[in-house]
Amino acid sequence: MAFDHRKYRPYAPIAKPARRWPDQVISRTPDWCAVDLRDGNQALVKPMSVAQKKKLFQLLVEVGFKEIEVGFPAASQTDFDFVRALIEENRIPDGVTVQVLTQAREDLIARSFESLKGAKSAVMHVYNSTSTVQRQQVFGLDRDGIKQIAIRGAEWVRHYAQQYPDTDWTFQYSPESFTGTEIDYAVEVIDAVNNVWQPQGGQKVVINLPATVEMSTPNVFADMVETVIDTMQQRQYVRISLHTHNDRGCAVAAAELGVMAGADRIEGTLLGNGERTGNMDLITMAMNLYSQGVDPQLDFSRMKDIVEVVQEVTDIRMHPRHPYAGEFVYAAFSGSHQDAIRKCLARYDEGDIWQVAYLPIDPADVGRRYEEVVRINSQSGKGGVVHVLERDYGITLPRWLQVEFSKIVQGEAESDGGEINGARIHQLFNQHYLSIRDGWKLQGYDLHRSDDVVEARVSVAGSSGMPLRVLVAKGSGAVSALVNSLALELGVAIRVESFDEFSLGDNTASNALACVRMQIDGNMVSAAALADDTTSAALQAVLNAVSGIAEARSTRLAG
Ligand code: KIV
Ligand code: ZN
Repeated sequence: MAFDHRKYRPYAPIAKPARRWPDQVISRTPDWCAVDLRDGNQALVKPMSVAQKKKLFQLLVEVGFKEIEVGFPAASQTDFDFVRALIEENRIPDGVTVQVLTQAREDLIARSFESLKGAKSAVMHVYNSTSTVQRQQVFGLDRDGIKQIAIRGAEWVRHYAQQYPDTDWTFQYSPESFTGTEIDYAVEVIDAVNNVWQPQGGQKVVINLPATVEMSTPNVFADMVETVIDTMQQRQYVRISLHTHNDRGCAVAAAELGVMAGADRIEGTLLGNGERTGNMDLITMAMNLYSQGVDPQLDFSRMKDIVEVVQEVTDIRMHPRHPYAGEFVYAAFSGSHQDAIRKCLARYDEGDIWQVAYLPIDPADVGRRYEEVVRINSQSGKGGVVHVLERDYGITLPRWLQVEFSKIVQGEAESDGGEINGARIHQLFNQHYLSIRDGWKLQGYDLHRSDDVVEARVSVAGSSGMPLRVLVAKGSGAVSALVNSLALELGVAIRVESFDEFSLGDNTASNALACVRMQIDGNMVSAAALADDTTSAALQAVLNAVSGIAEARSTRLAG
């Protein structure tokens, strides 16, 4: 059998008697380094063109990244040309540092420095693989042999940097496949590299710990980070950076726990594009901090535009449920969620603390509209339907009609199987309650009040030449007067079960809505009407309710 777990071994956790990181809370944002243009690009079916790279670089600058790994210029002519274009076309703003990656080989390091000629400040990022698997099976070298590669790489970096004294250099070293490397050996190599670079003498150094392949639970990774920090020699002089990949789906969690363990800097990509399952997603991690009240120092308010650019240059569609950015991540279809959201939103005052059930952040912060939150399908309850009618059409329904109408919407959603938008909900409301049958349109009314009795003359017009009828009757109010007259005229028993009227908001075409439920000849009928004034709305609602029954009766009589 091919699917056989026995060919795998568990990742050995490192012995760590006292760990501090579990008690830490992230209250300060780490330094960010976007590696979309290098690691992200290396993973693409079709690598980015220079024009696409320029577009993405501009976006990263606008979002607020201060360190951007722009390519692997010694390995790719496009990357070399791109780095040259950034420098020669003055595209790197002050305060932004570009970074390039190189293997620890002299020719490649020399070419990488050449690509950065003229840059104001830059990070030269050198790496070599240190894992047991790579040592034994790829390079056939022992621990010392691999360490020597790192040391020589560090020496060449120091040497070539001296040839470009006008650039403010940071040196970065990555023990690639750190997660597959024995921790004491990783520290030994890091110390050896720092011994060349001498960060304690003022050279700016980043030590980057890559989870090149994510191999363990994030807590084990955090243990490793804390151990490196505790046992390396020059900790206080270097920035510790993390570069997590997402093979187990925990790249963000590993980076977060790594920051709790003391890391200063995080490398990742927008939406997590990168080798295999991707790099750590910068949007998710930054927005996680944001949702905890920590300023991420990055601006994701134009999330839609950001996603558009990333999708365009990577040619990869974002998942609709992608954290913070996906199409559905602020949508609630389920009735109980909609209800809770509606109630919380009603209590949320601008500027107040955000405490809304089911919504970890305010969708408006990332340019989303509240209109997208409550969406209706067959799982939605009355709360959602009512919310959409109110939100999109300013129509408020009484409770008894909410229950009744939401069943109609639910029936429609069940037979359709999909989502019902606001326009369709309004259409259904119109069709079931508001539509006026031929011959039952209120043309005018005249009310006389005396001794608590209202005498009503209600004129009802037919369309296309039907005669105008005038109904005259008495009652305790306009509605009961009309009901009495209709009962007489049609010879049926009519009882009003519920009646509600509402003044409507300024953004609606009509001023008033009336809703009525009546028992007519033993049948329960509901109807509603919109009009310029409440009395007209009330009278038309009654006419709408009666008209159906009357038509059915006349058809029966005629038959
Ligand atoms: O994933 C990785 O190990 C890398 C290094 C080159 C930093 O991308
Ligand atoms: Zn990587």
